[in-house]
Amino acid sequence: MPDPRSQLLEIVAQARALADREARRHPHARVLTARPLDPDQSPDGPAVMVPAGPGPGLQDHGEPGDGEHRPGGPQPRPPFAGNLGDFETQIQECRLCPLGATRKHFVFGQGNPKASLVFVGEAPGAEEDAQGRPFVGAAGRLLTKIISAMGFKREEVYICNLLKCRPPGNRDPLPGEAAACRPFVEHQISLIRPRVICALGRFASQALLDTDEGIQRLRGRRFEWKGIPVYPTFHPSALLRDESLKKHVWEDMKLVMKELGGH
Ligand code: URA
Repeated sequence: MPDPRSQLLEIVAQARALADREARRHPHARVLTARPLDPDQSPDGPAVMVPAGPGPGLQDHGEPGDGEHRPGGPQPRPPFAGNLGDFETQIQECRLCPLGATRKHFVFGQGNPKASLVFVGEAPGAEEDAQGRPFVGAAGRLLTKIISAMGFKREEVYICNLLKCRPPGNRDPLPGEAAACRPFVEHQISLIRPRVICALGRFASQALLDTDEGIQRLRGRRFEWKGIPVYPTFHPSALLRDESLKKHVWEDMKLVMKELGGH
């Protein structure tokens, strides 16, 4: 009977051989380790990264299920971290969907972690992807003006997107990408616990409200997400294409300000 030490050495040798074989088969895959956070900080317990495997973003829009064409890398899943900084660290290497392979930067979000007002946009564009910050291009400059017209400084509110990575060529988010990213934005909002959410455009509004209704029908109305009032409005990019939408956005922002009761 082999002694326990030789048994252990044999197991380690087998594990090394397996890891080497995997590394040769998937040269771009990253080796992951669970990263436990302070469980006291997280409402859900310690944060974990699970090794690459099937992810909802891939399955939902029909990517191959055999793993061969799936980007390797972290597939962050709940339990998520209990503060925004740790949560960003936990998900910033995400490869749940193919956008993880084409992004320059993961665009987590920016602003006051205790904001009473959160804006949720669609997805990073080219400038956001280059800088790693949300709404810093033309649409972002317009959003900043809207925020100032409401009497806020940009840094007083929180700004994020439904998707954290740029869809190539600024195409619309695919259903599987939105499904993969939605738990992230939902957890982000749960951590901030704002008094009002403003959903910018169809994609953010439909994802948060779990509806297929178009933005024309959604805007101008009050909804709730987990008890937090949600006001959908047109996306700033739509205003850049059609100035006549500005008056509707301003009506919607007045509803937001009324809900905030004059901040
Ligand atoms: N459009 C978005 O929806 N988000 C950004 O960050 C930039 C443009």
